[in-house]
Amino acid sequence: ASRPFAQPYRQEYEIPNWQFQIDNDNILGSGAFSVVKKGLAKGKEVAVKTVKPGADKSYLKALLSEIKILIYLGKHDNLIALVGACTSDLRKGIACVFVEFCELGDLLHYLQKYRESFLRGSSEDSLDDFSANTLHRWAIEISSGMAYLTEKKVIHGDLAARNILLNRNRTAKITDFGLSRQLYSYTMYMKQNQEPLPWRWMAIESLSDLKFSPQSDIWAFGVTIWEIYSLGQVPFPAMNWDVDFVQSLQDGLRMPCPDMAPNELYTTIMMACWRNDPESRPSFEALGNILMTRYKLAQ
Ligand code: ADE
Repeated sequence: ASRPFAQPYRQEYEIPNWQFQIDNDNILGSGAFSVVKKGLAKGKEVAVKTVKPGADKSYLKALLSEIKILIYLGKHDNLIALVGACTSDLRKGIACVFVEFCELGDLLHYLQKYRESFLRGSSEDSLDDFSANTLHRWAIEISSGMAYLTEKKVIHGDLAARNILLNRNRTAKITDFGLSRQLYSYTMYMKQNQEPLPWRWMAIESLSDLKFSPQSDIWAFGVTIWEIYSLGQVPFPAMNWDVDFVQSLQDGLRMPCPDMAPNELYTTIMMACWRNDPESRPSFEALGNILMTRYKLAQ
């Protein structure tokens, strides 16, 4: 499978209209061009992603490419699992992708909710078993999913806490492959996308030259775990988007160690992910090994 995205969509994933229901009143999330709703498919709880009515054709194409990426990737414990897709109404501009439903929603909201109850000093929710261990476990799970992605030569392109989902066991699942690109080799590619850029998560070289690579995913991983250990703060909270931001990064501007992170994790992991030179950033495999040997405590 050297060019998996060039291959046709596989019919075995097709779910016919009579085998699914969409709960139109239960919106789980929505983006510039897509909406995610709760549904049932083949008797399972699912999240259903569709393109908003009237959206440009290119968005339908992006959704189809996301389906193909999910099929190509196959199963991994820390990637959202594909249940199927419905492409029979494609000519009417309609397509749906069904993925496993993650009961606890996205990691960013989960962290923020926890932060609020933590600061209030209340003991509601599962505060008792929400410890530094949980934060380390998420960092390990995300690095494991990302190492798998790199092995499959797929770059995510939009790794962030908002794109991590939690199932009922609070296992982290990487989602939203809308910006993903498959790399036939480790050559850089240029992004041709009109969406607002997630600049707070973007590597120096992505901001300055629109270069995306496995190394720019590593940068975004550093920002994502910064979000985890800050319990859902906005990265670079005091900054606004302008060209000086890139210059500041080049001059060495980085975020400080977040409240919940051990200082050693900040220096060996986060700061290493944010090295100016993409090639000198560690691999996901190396990051996972550091996290597992130093931070994986008895569960
Ligand atoms: N929001 C977006 N995708 C979701 C999913 N798979 N499960 C729950 N909430 C979601």
